[in-house]
Amino acid sequence: MKVSDVANPRQTVLVTSRDEIESRFSPEKKTKDNIFTLSWHTQVSHEPELYAISSGKERFSTKLIRKSKVFVVNFMPLKLKKEVLFCGTHSGEHIDKFEETGLEKEEADKVDCARIKQACGYLECKVVNEIEAGDHIIFIGEVINSKLNNKEKRIFQKKGEDFTTTR
Ligand SMILES: Cc1cc2nc3c(=O)[nH]c(=O)nc-3n(C[C@H](O)[C@H](O)[C@H](O)COP(=O)(O)O)c2cc1C
Repeated sequence: MKVSDVANPRQTVLVTSRDEIESRFSPEKKTKDNIFTLSWHTQVSHEPELYAISSGKERFSTKLIRKSKVFVVNFMPLKLKKEVLFCGTHSGEHIDKFEETGLEKEEADKVDCARIKQACGYLECKVVNEIEAGDHIIFIGEVINSKLNNKEKRIFQKKGEDFTTTR
């Protein structure tokens, strides 16, 4: 039996991160925003408020978060299941997941990163620690800014592509 067979359902979130692309040919810095789907995340401290996410070593997002040292955790409604699944099954290395899914971008208030407009709530985080855990990296972020936008039914992962919500 796998851990997920025992531990799930777990709330599934979308984590946003930003890449700054430097070019030798242009003084202007270009940015690329990415989104990935994540079920392994939790608060780990009250004071300061710290939030941990577990990100696969090979993920494009891991590279971006390592570089930028910030990320946003976006809590998503069940009704956006298709978009959540898309972001969890496609790498952002060669595509723009905002464009592909139609999820709307807004600028985070306190960190240099995008947020998702349709999120039920969000946590804007600055990375304060990084821990290697098997094939994943645990990023511990200090929560710099947070907001609950609405009380829509959230998305929880049961197994694979099977999702549920609360009553
Ligand atoms: C429901 C669901 C939950 C997932 N949870 C995690 C997770 O907790 N950690 C992780 O590293 N990847 C998780 N993934 C896989 C990544 O979202 C997936 O590899 C994604 O394509 C990575 O995108 P990126 O390469 O643009 O960063 C999950 C995927 C799905 C569909």
